[in-house]
Amino acid sequence: MPDILVLYYSRGGSVARLARQIARGIAEVDGMQARLRTVPPVAVVTTTAQPPVPDDGAPYVERADLAECAGLLLGSPTRFGNMAAPLKHFIDGLGAEWASGTLVGKPAAVFTSTATQHGGQEATLLSMLVPLLHHGCVVTGIPYTEPQLHTTAGGGTPYGASHVAGANDDPQPSDDEAALARALGRRVAQLAAKLA
Ligand SMILES: Cc1cc2nc3c(=O)[nH]c(=O)nc-3n(C[C@H](O)[C@H](O)[C@H](O)COP(=O)(O)O)c2cc1C
Repeated sequence: MPDILVLYYSRGGSVARLARQIARGIAEVDGMQARLRTVPPVAVVTTTAQPPVPDDGAPYVERADLAECAGLLLGSPTRFGNMAAPLKHFIDGLGAEWASGTLVGKPAAVFTSTATQHGGQEATLLSMLVPLLHHGCVVTGIPYTEPQLHTTAGGGTPYGASHVAGANDDPQPSDDEAALARALGRRVAQLAAKLA
């Protein structure tokens, strides 16, 4: 059974919850399943080594996950209108995968979370799509045929799935945000099935 890689970084849990909704959407497609993976944090000065396996949540991603997946989704909190450093740090280490075309032709999409409604979701989503284009992925977003794209009062964009956590940093996606995250997971899985 081919896996769709859902690779994300999340510190407060918002992006992690979107990832779980995306995984549900992937599982709705016959013969498809999600492989949830995360990346370790980075620091200006590394004082302690990270454990080889995180204490909780998804395991750390390995290069084999990229080679084995039939499609992928990247998720990150918005940091000043861009993806967070831990995800970028991982992507910056993918020279060998770029050179050998590991991700060429694989469907891909992105997701994010912000504190504020107009805090740069689309900018962050676009920043994550750019390296996927360099890697030859077949990128997709969410089409306006998804009804929640017309009704959401929070996150959920044609550029990718998203959540607005608000001033209290509530990690729980709204019903519309969750439905759009599932729709994006379904879409990548359906594309992967068709491309196979
Ligand atoms: C350094 C830093 C920069 C941030 N930049 C933005 C921003 O540009 N726009 C915004 O709305 N929220 C910003 N936030 C808030 C996070 O994007 C938001 O809390 C997000 O939901 C966190 O996701 P997580 O719970 O998965 O870690 C920033 C947070 C931090 C720590």
